[in-house]
Amino acid sequence: MATNEGLMEKIVSLCKRRGFVYQGSEIYGGLAGTWDYGPLGVALKKNIENLWWKRFVLDREDVYGVDAAILMNQEVWKASGHVGGFNDPMVECQKCKHRFREDHLEDKEKCPDCGGKLGAARQFNMMFKTQIGAMEDETSVSYLRPETAQGIFVNFKNILDTFHPKLPFGIAQIGKAFRNEIAPRDFIFRVRELEQMEIEYFVRESEWKKHFDYFLDQQTAFLEQDLGLTKSKIHPVDVPAEDRAHYSKHSIDTEFDFPIGQKELLGLAYRTDYDLGAHTKASGTDLSYYDEEAKERFVPHVIEPTFGVGRLLLAVLSDAYAEDEQNGETRVFLKFKPSVAPVKAAVFPLLKNKPELVAYAREVYQNLKRDIPQIMWDDNGNVGKRYRRQDEIGTPFCITIDFDTLGETPEMKDTVTVRDRDTGEQERVVVAELSSYVQRKIAG
Ligand code: GAP
Repeated sequence: MATNEGLMEKIVSLCKRRGFVYQGSEIYGGLAGTWDYGPLGVALKKNIENLWWKRFVLDREDVYGVDAAILMNQEVWKASGHVGGFNDPMVECQKCKHRFREDHLEDKEKCPDCGGKLGAARQFNMMFKTQIGAMEDETSVSYLRPETAQGIFVNFKNILDTFHPKLPFGIAQIGKAFRNEIAPRDFIFRVRELEQMEIEYFVRESEWKKHFDYFLDQQTAFLEQDLGLTKSKIHPVDVPAEDRAHYSKHSIDTEFDFPIGQKELLGLAYRTDYDLGAHTKASGTDLSYYDEEAKERFVPHVIEPTFGVGRLLLAVLSDAYAEDEQNGETRVFLKFKPSVAPVKAAVFPLLKNKPELVAYAREVYQNLKRDIPQIMWDDNGNVGKRYRRQDEIGTPFCITIDFDTLGETPEMKDTVTVRDRDTGEQERVVVAELSSYVQRKIAG
């Protein structure tokens, strides 16, 4: 797919203007590779995370959730191979001193910024190093975790001992990860502080392929059914051996048609018994599993579905972005699936200077908000302006309380107008049925 820089610019600008995503540390000129989520961005992010948690944890009996510490004993990262192997090839321009990831450059000799000559590539470790406590020596070194996965592996024995799960089973986690990317770019696509949603699914070695294929289907189902992403923009791609992470024997990345082109959205890896084996050896703690029926002890193998929250959010935003012509004007709207939309419905009094309309609308708003918390009150400007504002943040339903609601047309008393974001069509709904009407629509 061709890149669409114009679309990316429109999304970045909309995100700032409407409170989805702001530049990190903006008042100090920013900090490269960091972004702050505003009220609507947080709501959208939480919806994505909750849908993920529902599909992969709550709706299942075989996946256990954890929330491990970001800071871990440095031995974890030595054993996992990240101290030695979590590197990207970096090149520096001999003239302007700018640094680049060599594998992202088409011309490996010439600086893309000034045309100067690039030096030889060297390996750059992407972990953020820090000191724990007041002493600054080798024993106090720690790292901000570059993947949430290791917080799962170090808790494998805890889950075995406290829940006694039978194989196959999984452990899931949502949390922050940090990577000192050489060249963060493309808005929230490549950042230095990110959020991941990961499952380590423990299986018998002989069954790895069956579970791998199953989770590939589940990843696609999550994208299409839960997030409502366009099917034709989703591309599973086999990762060749030379591009795979150091722990993976087989990987399939799911790429997506972003405005910046077809790029990695999420991943699936067969991590074998690499991590549990390495931690057993390094920690001296036995991380094997005893199968009571087969009377057999072994180290389980692992299938790892991994998702980047920021990239999912960018995929959802770019897929939802739409423009059309209404009343001779260009209308911008985000056609989110209602279950993903940060605001499910907005409630308006037709006029804000009519106390009887405002009082009725307030009551509708409060009653609806009790059942569906993501409801917004809007009485600013005329109804047309409110529609535009709500369209731009992707609110699927706008509810207007007008004089007919109050009984001006007797047969319309206690009904409201519900306007659909995508079609602009309006329906009259009885107030007593409004909550179940909106909930039905959100559920799809
Ligand atoms: N535990 C496996 C793992 O971390 P990964 O492919 O390095 O695998 C998983 O990362 C996902 O995390 C990616 O598919 C992507 O969605 C997200 N991700 C990784 N690095 C990122 C970055 N610098 N900025 C934004 N998202 C990133």
